[in-house]
Amino acid sequence: MSFTIAIDGPAAAGKGTISRAVAAHFGLAHLDTGLLYRAVGARVLTGEDAEAAARCLSAADLEADTLRSADVAQAASKVATIPQVRAALVDFQRAFARRAGGAVLDGRDIGTVICPEAEAKLFVTASAEIRAQRRYRELLEQGAETSLPEVLADVRARDDRDMTRADAPLKTADDAVIIDTSEMSIEAAVATAIAAVEARRAPDVAS
Ligand code: CDP
Repeated sequence: MSFTIAIDGPAAAGKGTISRAVAAHFGLAHLDTGLLYRAVGARVLTGEDAEAAARCLSAADLEADTLRSADVAQAASKVATIPQVRAALVDFQRAFARRAGGAVLDGRDIGTVICPEAEAKLFVTASAEIRAQRRYRELLEQGAETSLPEVLADVRARDDRDMTRADAPLKTADDAVIIDTSEMSIEAAVATAIAAVEARRAPDVAS
């Protein structure tokens, strides 16, 4: 029996950390779907066509060490507005979601478009300022040269593109539990997410 957990939210809200912890807690596989768009964005930055790149992504593309850079993040959110790119990535995500044993997927449209039937849906968010501070610290740790105002502008530009695109815009699924991590520690956010999933688990899959 499979159990799908959909975790959506805006840039740098803490989805990645929460998703990994939730997957480990429930013993489920995890897919960071943002990596798919980042991998397409990275290929486009080298001159490739976006749709062609989306159609032939390989596991090696998802391991490139440039994927976390700010340039690739912006390129990802641009290719993510192209319906043909999104369409090329749907089957892989849906198959992953329904793998035996279940899965956690995080992204922007998991609970609304990719897995509208997911057993548990979380929408993880935080204020733009807090998200920018967190991403700024991450980028500094990677050795990137940037400033907080620049990161805040990038986060806002990406939020705007993600929320206003016509195809699969970022929005809260009607049945999602909203977790605002602005004032939460990582531990508190993870505990809140696990409790929310527990509350959605059907009695026959509860251990
Ligand atoms: O880590 P962060 O939250 O900053 O971004 P990400 O999850 O790696 O996603 C990078 C970009 O890919 C986002 O800004 C979206 O434009 C796009 N994306 C999407 O459109 N749909 C998804 N399911 C996941 C990511």
